[in-house]
Amino acid sequence: MPKLRKVLGTVPAYVPGRKVPGAAILASNESPYGLLPSVASVLAEHLTGVSRYPDMSSTALIESIAAHHDVDPARVAVGAGSVEVCSQLAASVVDDGDEVVFGWRAFEAYPIITAVAGGAAVKVPLTSSSVHDVDAMIAAVTARTRLMFLCNPNNPTGTTVGREELLRLADGVPPDVLLVIDEAYREYVDPQRVPDAFVLLGDRPNVVVTRTFSKAYALAGLRVGYCLAGSEVAAAARKCQVPFSVSGLAQSAAIAALGDQEEVGRRAKLTVAERERVRAALLGHGYEVPPSEANFVWLVLGNRTSAFAEACLAGGVVVRPFAGEGVRVSIGTDEENDRFLGIAASFAA
Ligand SMILES: Cc1ncc(COP(=O)(O)O)c(C=O)c1O
Repeated sequence: MPKLRKVLGTVPAYVPGRKVPGAAILASNESPYGLLPSVASVLAEHLTGVSRYPDMSSTALIESIAAHHDVDPARVAVGAGSVEVCSQLAASVVDDGDEVVFGWRAFEAYPIITAVAGGAAVKVPLTSSSVHDVDAMIAAVTARTRLMFLCNPNNPTGTTVGREELLRLADGVPPDVLLVIDEAYREYVDPQRVPDAFVLLGDRPNVVVTRTFSKAYALAGLRVGYCLAGSEVAAAARKCQVPFSVSGLAQSAAIAALGDQEEVGRRAKLTVAERERVRAALLGHGYEVPPSEANFVWLVLGNRTSAFAEACLAGGVVVRPFAGEGVRVSIGTDEENDRFLGIAASFAA
């Protein structure tokens, strides 16, 4: 037997949302509206290019992202989904045994990324309202801390921290600790309540913001994400990218999607309106559902979690249970949401 790294014995498995034919899939926070029509034609056009390697530097894509955020392209790095970007950032700063601080529960890839990078995870419990406890996160920093993830809005709770907490966190984290603010769900956030972290904190060399094309841009299957960072950190993240990990199709699709802000914004508004309708109905049935700024809601169900998820599955809706804690339900089409609410109403009764 080859000698495998000991740490692999402790790496938790990522649990993907289930795909059940014929069911409403509300388990992976995908866009329910399908591929953007403007992107479909671009994909068809670039299909024959797949026999060639893509532009390894994703030059045109990085320029489009930089123009979209009005920043220097040197401050942008891309990866195969923002999950690869998060691991590029971990690979940039984490040496064996270094500590990585994040709230818990948050995005379930953080412990995996931390362990694979050779780091030690420091999980800081959310508050009783399922919100990141920024003061406890600051207090968790030690001399060994190299990286902190703040998932905002948080997956799976949908909760956010606002301007004051963002500033307090950035002020409280030492400048030699990389603070990664994961904004995978940014397009669903009310900007009045939660400022764009890069606009607020982008002038700090230790702050990075990650974004993805997998949610509002409806490109989860093509795998593109990016970060906005100081140019040195962005250069490090580029070095840690698996060569050619962002395919040519993905690069072209992401550029086209970025250019279709009107439709992306229209769809995000529909999802936000549906999210508020779904949450109000759930609260009406007596469920505990924290306010969400993402494209999903979180039902605090404790030991009723598995029974609830099974009831949903029996009714043709796949949700994402976290045993003993709660269920995350992505916002789907109006019909899918109605189907889910019907099941939730019966379960509550
Ligand atoms: C908070 C958060 N960050 C990052 C990702 C990764 O998305 P992707 O790798 O598809 O860009 C997800 C996906 O669910 C997420 O919830």
